[in-house]
Amino acid sequence: MCGIVGYIGENEAKDILLKGLEKLEYRGYDSAGIALSNEKGITVVKEKGRIADLRSAVTESLQGTTGIGHTRWATHGVPNKVNAHPHQSASGRFTLVHNGVIENYHLLQQAFLDNVSIISDTDTEVIAQLIEKFVLEGMTTEAAFSHTLSLLKGSYAIAMLDENDPDTIFVAKNKSPLLLGIGDKFHVVVSDTMAMRHVTDQFVEIYDKEIVLLSKDRMEIKSIDGMQIEREPFTATIDINDMEKGIYPHYMMKEMDEQASVIRKIIRMYENDQGKFTLPSAIRKALNEADRIYIIAAGTSYHAGLIGKQYFEKIAGIPVEVHISSEFGYNMPLLSEKPLFLFISQSGETADSRQVLVKVKDLGYPTISLTNVAGSTLAREAEHTLLLHAGPEIAVASTKAYTAQIAVLSIIAFVSADERGQSIDLNIKNELSVCANAIQTIMDAKEDIEQISRDFFESTRSAFFIGRNMDYYISMEGALKLKEISYIQAEGFAGGELKHGTIALIEEGIPVVALNTQKEISLNIRGNVKEVVARGANPCIVSMEGLEEAGDRFVFPRVHSLLTPLVAIVPLQLMSYYAALHRGCDVDKPRNLAKSVTVE
Ligand code: M6R
Repeated sequence: MCGIVGYIGENEAKDILLKGLEKLEYRGYDSAGIALSNEKGITVVKEKGRIADLRSAVTESLQGTTGIGHTRWATHGVPNKVNAHPHQSASGRFTLVHNGVIENYHLLQQAFLDNVSIISDTDTEVIAQLIEKFVLEGMTTEAAFSHTLSLLKGSYAIAMLDENDPDTIFVAKNKSPLLLGIGDKFHVVVSDTMAMRHVTDQFVEIYDKEIVLLSKDRMEIKSIDGMQIEREPFTATIDINDMEKGIYPHYMMKEMDEQASVIRKIIRMYENDQGKFTLPSAIRKALNEADRIYIIAAGTSYHAGLIGKQYFEKIAGIPVEVHISSEFGYNMPLLSEKPLFLFISQSGETADSRQVLVKVKDLGYPTISLTNVAGSTLAREAEHTLLLHAGPEIAVASTKAYTAQIAVLSIIAFVSADERGQSIDLNIKNELSVCANAIQTIMDAKEDIEQISRDFFESTRSAFFIGRNMDYYISMEGALKLKEISYIQAEGFAGGELKHGTIALIEEGIPVVALNTQKEISLNIRGNVKEVVARGANPCIVSMEGLEEAGDRFVFPRVHSLLTPLVAIVPLQLMSYYAALHRGCDVDKPRNLAKSVTVE
């Protein structure tokens, strides 16, 4: 949800900012802008659309060694040029970019900006106008910046230029992610390290409510009460090559293809010298002491959490509740005596999950985050962190992070079982390797799946996914994949539930994808398929080897029954990919979405 870059140094800032914005485009891509400062003043260029549109609008003559940039996912006001960032104060002296949501911007506007005409529909412009107002009343820029921030309710990551002080970028954050980067005679500010890895690998965290004054050779971090803060940089380990598409037409295809090797990597990362899976002792202790695990997540990560519940309960005997993060924070259930909170998030930046983390930490409960991004907000702020080791996931549709989440959840459950002295007849390491091989086999069959996708999704407006037990959760994820990138209305249902209402929607020819991976309920799901076929549905049965029958559309290699979600999702991911491709959709950047949902 919006990406921010800033550069102050001795080199031309324009290309550094544009390249950074291209890397941040996954956070929002409905409009973008940059502002460059030089001896003549500040120039702002913004465009509706993608960074490529902004690039075309930026002229050769635009120059400056200090600048800020922004890629937007609209929260206030439609995506257009006026609402695009950077925003400026009335006189043009202050120019800023913002990620987050200011909840009280209307109240602030009424209270302080009666005589100022606001030209955009954004909450952001109000910040720029307030700073100018306080400066006109006699405050220094730093004091006005700080005072304005103290009035804001909500979330923000801000980088601001002052035309009268071209040697400084003013920076602040609260709840929204923002980091500083250090180089030789330059500094950067950025929403995500990956967007500035082309200029540095040294980054410094900013904590909520801190203010930073950034010049080319000075980084002054101040606490809310004005105290100077010294903070050591960390090295970003992300590999620049991992961020490129390489030979693939889309990131999504690359990321689906990486799933087998990601599982193999997870096996290596979680085994000790004796080849046994292990976890840090503090995490084992936390798992051992918990009487119930509360999994908190959103979207695809929530779907992985539903599978995780099965693992913790079936493998380790620990009761689990899985909650959608945006619901949990404002409607907290009665908790057990010794709850343990497990936050699952690919990005580690999801604001809905973070608000729960803040609340449960305040209540003093133990927390673990399971994320793909080391150094992300959830990774930093949870008491313990485990990583997915999936490598950067750029496509908005999450694929390899989902399978990585399931693989790591199975390992955590397995280690917890061991810790609790539960004996389980499962060689999880071997079984995960078998899954990796099965995924590779499915990826090799992508042409067959492309044909299936054509047969079922080419002309439909809606589709259903059904399954029972764990297949139900895979159905939910399969439906989410299809709808988010192809815009086909798709829903995942428990096979037995359709006839309690939704079967009314089944019409002649409507595709119903049925998952059939669980021996005990295989006959039941086939029964559910018969019910929809009797009403005209076009069934697409995806079975695991050993459970197949003539007429099933896709059969994948047999894996352990607990680990089927890791594998069964792959043909559904591929079907969605091809459905989106054949419909001419932007596979990696579907409309209205952003990779990292950093606003509540
Ligand atoms: O980064 P997170 O895993 O916390 O993100 C949660 C959801 O926004 C995310 O999984 C979303 O549902 C994906 N676009 C699904 O493909």
